Amino acid sequence: MLRTHTCGQLNAADAGKKVTLCGWVAKRRDHGKLIFIDLRDRYGYTQVVFIPKESGEAHKLASDLRNEFVVKLTGTVNKRPSGTINAKLPTGEVEILAQELEILNRSNNPPFAIENDLELNEEIRLKYRYLDLRRTKVFNNLVLRSNLYKIIRNYLSGFEFLECETPILTKSTPEGARDYLVPSRVSNGQFFALPQSPQLFKQILMVAGIDKYYQIAKCFRDEDLRADRQPEFTQLDIEMSFINEEDIFTLAEGLMKLILKELKGVDILTPFPRITYKEALEKYGCDKPDLRSELKNDFAFCWVVDFPLFKFNAEEKRWESEHHPFTAPAQDDLENLERAPEKVRSRSYDLVLNGMELGSGSVRIHCPELQERIFKIIGLEKEETYKRFGFLLEAFQFGAPPHGGVAFGLDRLLTIISGESSIREVITFPKTSTTFCPLTNAPSDVGEKQLQELGLTIKRKITA
Ligand code: AMO
Repeated sequence: MLRTHTCGQLNAADAGKKVTLCGWVAKRRDHGKLIFIDLRDRYGYTQVVFIPKESGEAHKLASDLRNEFVVKLTGTVNKRPSGTINAKLPTGEVEILAQELEILNRSNNPPFAIENDLELNEEIRLKYRYLDLRRTKVFNNLVLRSNLYKIIRNYLSGFEFLECETPILTKSTPEGARDYLVPSRVSNGQFFALPQSPQLFKQILMVAGIDKYYQIAKCFRDEDLRADRQPEFTQLDIEMSFINEEDIFTLAEGLMKLILKELKGVDILTPFPRITYKEALEKYGCDKPDLRSELKNDFAFCWVVDFPLFKFNAEEKRWESEHHPFTAPAQDDLENLERAPEKVRSRSYDLVLNGMELGSGSVRIHCPELQERIFKIIGLEKEETYKRFGFLLEAFQFGAPPHGGVAFGLDRLLTIISGESSIREVITFPKTSTTFCPLTNAPSDVGEKQLQELGLTIKRKITA
C-alpha cells in the first residue's frame, strides 16, 4: 500500500502519528511561507500544511502543485489551532504537517471545478464523467447503488433465491420496444438481439426447476429517451414457481420496506394499497397514480392490478398484449378470450412509486395450449410463433411449473431515493437524450474490413 490512511479517516485521536496519504489536490492556498492544500480521495478531505523550515524540500515542491495533481505525502498529524477547526469536515480537527511530498501525476486544468453545487452543461459532464464522478454528490449516487445491490442480494439469498445470469447475445424478447441488433460474423446476414429483459430465460429457468430466481440484469431497449428512460438500464428481475400474486406482493413489499429503512431511515407501511386499472383511470386519470398527498410518507407505493390482457392496435387493426404475451388471463375471463378479448383481465400487476412505474410483472401462462391461443388472438401465425418463441413453447412441453414474477427498474428506484430529477444522475456512464455517449463518442463508424466480415454494406440515409 502506498498510503497508511485515507483522506477521510484522521481525527484528533490520531494527533502525533506519522502518516502517509495519497490523493488529488482539491485546493491550494499559497500564503507565501505557509502553503495549504486540501487533499481529496473518495473518503473525504484532509488539510495539509507546508511550512518552509519543517517541510524542507516538500515546501518547495508544493509551490508546483495545481488542482487535480495526484500526490503522495508523509507528515505528522497535528490538532488544528483553536479557531481554525472545521466542524463540517470529519477530519476538520486536524491537519497534516507535511515532511515529504511526491507528485505521482500531473493534471491538465480541469474543464470544470470539482465542486458540488455547480450548474454544469450535461454533455461536458458526461464527456469528462471521470471528473464529474470526483464530485461527492455524483459519487454518492454510486455508493447508493452499491448499497442497494447489497441489500437486495442479502434479502433474496435469505429466501433461498438463486442469482443466475442469462445471455446478452440472444434473440428478440417481446417487451414492445425496438431491439438493439448485433450482426453475426459467423452466420452472415443473421443477428443477435440484446435482451429487452431476461423474460424468456427466466421462464425457462422455472422449467429447469430453479423455483426462486433473481438477477440484477442489464436490459437494452431502442426507444425514445426521457428523464426516466435509458437505452441500457438495470432491472431487478425475479421469477418464482408454485406461487400466486400474493407471494410476489409480500416478497416485493418486504424488500421495498427494507430498502427504504436501510437507505433512507424511513418506515413505510405495508401492505401497499391495491388499485384496479379501471379505478386508477376513473379516479386519477392514469394507470400510474401518485398517492403522495393521500398517503402523506415521501414514498407512496401502490399496486395497480386487473389490467386488461389485450389492447387494440387501431393502426394495424389487431389485438396486442398489454403487458407481454406470456401473461396469464384471469381465470374467470377465460371463456371470453376469443369471444370478447376486450373484456379479459390479466393476472399482471404494476408497482407504482410516486407516480412512476417502478416495476411490472405477472403470473404467467405455463400450458402450451393456452399460450398458443393467446398468440393466435394477437395475430401471430403458428409459423411465426415457432420461429420467435418455439424454444420456449418446446420447453413448456417438458413439465413447466405454474410460475410468475416481476421486474423492478433499479435506476428509477435510485432516482427517487436520491431525490434526483433524472435517471442519468444515478447511472455511472449514462447516454444523453439522443442516445449518445460523449465520453467514448459511441455510437461510431466501423471500418470497411469489419463491415465486410459481417457481410454488411451501409446505405446512408439522405437527409434534406
Ligand atoms: P417492463 O417492460 O415493465 O417489464 O420493465 C420493468 C421495469 O423496468 C423499468 N424500465 C426502464 N427503466 C429505465 N429505462 C427504460 N428504458 C426502461 N424500461 C423499463 C421500469 C419498468 O417498470 N419482463 C417484464 C417483467 C416481468 O413481467 O417480470 C418487463 O421487463 O421500471
